[in-house]
Amino acid sequence: MAVKISTIEVLILSLALLSFGHGCYGQLRLGFYSQNCQNVENIVSKVVGEAFIKDSSIAPAMIRLYFHDCFSNGCDASLLLDGSNSEKKASPNLSVRGYEVIDDIKSAVEKECDRVVSCADIIALATRDLVTLASGGKTRYEIPTGRLDGKISSALLVDLPSPKMTVAETAAKFDQRKLSLTDMVLLLGGHTIGVTHCSFIMDRLYNFQNTQKPDPSMDPKLVEELSGKCPKGSSTDGIINLDQNATSSNTMDVSFYKEIKVSRGVLHIDQKLANDDLTRKMVTDIANGNDFLVRFGQAMVNLGSVRVISKPKDGEIRRSCRSTCNNPLCV
Ligand code: HEM
Repeated sequence: MAVKISTIEVLILSLALLSFGHGCYGQLRLGFYSQNCQNVENIVSKVVGEAFIKDSSIAPAMIRLYFHDCFSNGCDASLLLDGSNSEKKASPNLSVRGYEVIDDIKSAVEKECDRVVSCADIIALATRDLVTLASGGKTRYEIPTGRLDGKISSALLVDLPSPKMTVAETAAKFDQRKLSLTDMVLLLGGHTIGVTHCSFIMDRLYNFQNTQKPDPSMDPKLVEELSGKCPKGSSTDGIINLDQNATSSNTMDVSFYKEIKVSRGVLHIDQKLANDDLTRKMVTDIANGNDFLVRFGQAMVNLGSVRVISKPKDGEIRRSCRSTCNNPLCV
């Protein structure tokens, strides 16, 4: 009898969700694990919270990992797979970090729910929690789940934008993934925290488009400051904050947009957002508005829907996020 009642309750709840249209995001939905691993979000939060206390740079690292996984081949955790020629071996992914934290979360989740929660969902949940932590608790978005893990990971399939692309070229890549221009402008707000290596901006500092001069779209004062941190001919590849507002380079907030509006963008694509006719007004509106964090959360949900695998014949739930289930550990 008890089983019957709970089945009816589940049915009513599902119908209610469908009829009101809330909680449904394509194949994904809020609370996907509420029946078979109801504690998953608490487990993820706990492990992520401990990792953030140890090293808060895990927040930008994980946001970038989520972007790189979703953008190439969809949000299927293919970036996590080890292998001599897997996605993580492609050059734009060589500086991606956060794999160990995903391993820790997966182990903690497996202890409670054996092969129920996908690695792709773990990335999405962990990233959500880290956005909250990096905003100082000022924002939290709900992220639907139900992704399956992919079985294919190839460095050759990695397809990410380069900082040298124009806004239009970058927007075309987002469009191929059903992400709008607005999503793109908001998601690049991920650069309000985290760092870049000097190697990505040396041309802007010393030899922009083979002119032997700095990029004229960078504030000369910033050129001088960054040249000190990224000296020409240095044998080491230093790191620079992506958000040059020193008081908020580690805080998820609107300051990145304010900086690029005054020519203090670090990556070329960031500066182009503020200068290009396609995106200039959006940047001004975000910089002057007070809803960036909420809108960033919505864009992160949209990013999390890119080419999701939901049919069991196309995906799986891994036991270890580093290997597919075509191995003895999975049985
Ligand atoms: C659209 C074009 C994009 C380009 C060309 C781009 C490029 C880059 C580059 C070159 C770096 C520095 C990497 C390094 O030095 O190792 C970086 C860092 C970062 N990117 Fe992007 N990015 C883009 C979009 C995004 C998006 C959409 C997000 C978030 C959803 C994002 C989040 C980050 C974060 C958080 C970091 C800092 C990582 C860290 O500190 O470990 N990026 N990006």
